[in-house]
This record gives sequence, C-alpha cells and structure tokens, in this order.
Amino acid sequence: MFAHRQISHDLLRTGPQLRRWMSVRPPAADPATPAIPRKKVTIQALHALRQSKTPISMLTAYDYPSALACSSSVLTDITLVGDSLAQVCLGYSSTTQLTLSEMIHHSKAVARGTTHPFLVVDMPFGTYHSSVNEAVLNAVRLVQEGRAEGVKMEGGREIVDVVRKLTEVGIPVMAHVGLLPQRHSSMSGYKVQGRSVEGAKKVVADAIALQEAGAFAIVVEAVPLELGKYITDRLKIPTIGIGAGPHTNGQVLVYDDVMGTWSGHKAKFVRRFANLKEVRDNAIHAYGEAVRDGSFPDAAAESYTMDKAAWDRFLEEVEGSTGSVAA
Ligand code: KIV
Repeated sequence: MFAHRQISHDLLRTGPQLRRWMSVRPPAADPATPAIPRKKVTIQALHALRQSKTPISMLTAYDYPSALACSSSVLTDITLVGDSLAQVCLGYSSTTQLTLSEMIHHSKAVARGTTHPFLVVDMPFGTYHSSVNEAVLNAVRLVQEGRAEGVKMEGGREIVDVVRKLTEVGIPVMAHVGLLPQRHSSMSGYKVQGRSVEGAKKVVADAIALQEAGAFAIVVEAVPLELGKYITDRLKIPTIGIGAGPHTNGQVLVYDDVMGTWSGHKAKFVRRFANLKEVRDNAIHAYGEAVRDGSFPDAAAESYTMDKAAWDRFLEEVEGSTGSVAA
C-alpha cells in the first residue's frame, strides 16, 4: 500500500512540468512535503521581481531539513547557505573559522533539499582574497561539488576584479556590502555601517562598483534605512537587505533567527516568526521524563509483539529442561 502510494507520488512529481526542471535539479524527495508548483527561480526571475516591485524573500539554510523548510514555501525566492553556518550550526565563534570543505559539505546537503529557490552559497573567509585565479578555483568547487547556482562574497571595490572574472566565466555573484561579518575584527565588532557621511559614501561607491563588475544582486547589511533606500534607488540590480530597512528590493534573515532556535545575541533587525527553542526544549525534557518514569515506550502502542505460539515454542527450545537460554 505504502509502496504503491509512493510510486504514484513519484510519477506525479515527474509529470511534464517537473520533468523540465530535472536538468536543473531533481525535486527534493520529502514525502511529507507536496511538490511546490513553482518553476526554478532564475536570475532573470529575480530581476523581474525587482522590476515589478515584488519584495524578494531570501532565507539561509545549512542542511537538508532547513533546505526542505525553505523550499516548502512558494514564496521563498533564494536559499542562501550563509557562512553564519559557522556559528549557528558548527559552534564556532565567528564566520572566519569556517573552511571551504565544511561549506561544501553543508552546501551539498542544502542542494539535495532545494527545489525552486535559487541557491546561493557564501564564499568562506580567505577563499577569494589571495588571487583571482584562486577565487575562481574555489568558486568552481562550490558550483561543482556544492551545487551552488551563485556565490556570495563580502567586500567593496577591492574585490571587483574577482566579481568581474567570476561573472565572465559564468558564476553569478551576489555581492555583500555594509556590515561585513568576515571582517568583524578589523571593523572592531558587528557595528551598523554608513552612519557618517564618509561611511555612507563608501557603501554607495562600493555597491555601484560591484554592480558595474557584474554582480547580479547585492546584500546590504546593517545600514541606516535612508541609505538602504538610496542604494536601492541608485542600483539596477536587486538589493537584499538585512538590517537595512524596509525599502530594499528584498530581505534576508538567518533561519535560526526566524525560527527562534538561536539563543545567542538578537540583533535589532531580527524578527522571530516562531519560538521553536521553547517547543524543542520542552520536547527534549518531556522525552527524558517519559524514559525516566517508564511511560515510554508504551507496550501496546509503541512496541512490537510476537505470535504467542511462536514465543512459547521459542521458550521451549531455548530454555529446554534447564530453564535457561543456552550460551
Ligand atoms: O551568512 C549569512 O547568514 C549571511 C546573511 C546575509 C544572512 O551572509
């Protein structure tokens, strides 16, 4: 019965419309989540959203379950394997500790769970600074092994050569200006950027240079909302804000912030759309209690039984006349 249902479900998912997507990525095989009736999001589609003033929704994912969650909504346009992976999943104190191999490992899992959202992967700290060639080699690994459809990198005018080269060789680049978490040491912490005249001018000049170098979109992090709007009005590519106010073309948040599973610092721009930490911790405690008090597993509902005759025969055979199981 189950196998039969599974087959027809699979057939449904490879109908004429979905078969067209197969060349891009097979639909994630989560039997609990029905296929989402949305075509694969492309860069062209993201530009069309900007043109039509439809806010772009981007969310981070770090593994197969969070990728499935992002793909479960027709409204998710971009899934980002952010290097916030370092803190929220791997327990590092900052993104600078994350390696390329770790990012590829997680990106592969996210790709397996991603259906329609455009999949962007962060280039970890130190993987795009030593030379343009090395940046290309590392970005190619994220595409080939991590199955990224675009890469994201932090920085301003100093990285335009890398952005240009990657764009030329066909690897779409999402730029990232404003607060650059990978540079938290040199920036003396995670501070709002562009609050001074000089600071604001720098963020604008960086954003324009990155657009000219070919970036297909740009994340603008932790800047005053006036500056978020100014940059958005000046650029022709989508701006995705995080702590940049409501006027950018889209928004991005960290998955664990949205779910309320992250108990670390809560930035001003974070909104928790659920409180899963409470639900999760209650479930863990309830499980422990049930194990301790013996109410889990329930003999009738949560255990297997053996046919009485077979059990009696078993006892007879193994215990025999001695009344104990032979070694
Ligand atoms: O790593 C990250 O999570 C990011 C943000 C923009 C969400 O880069």
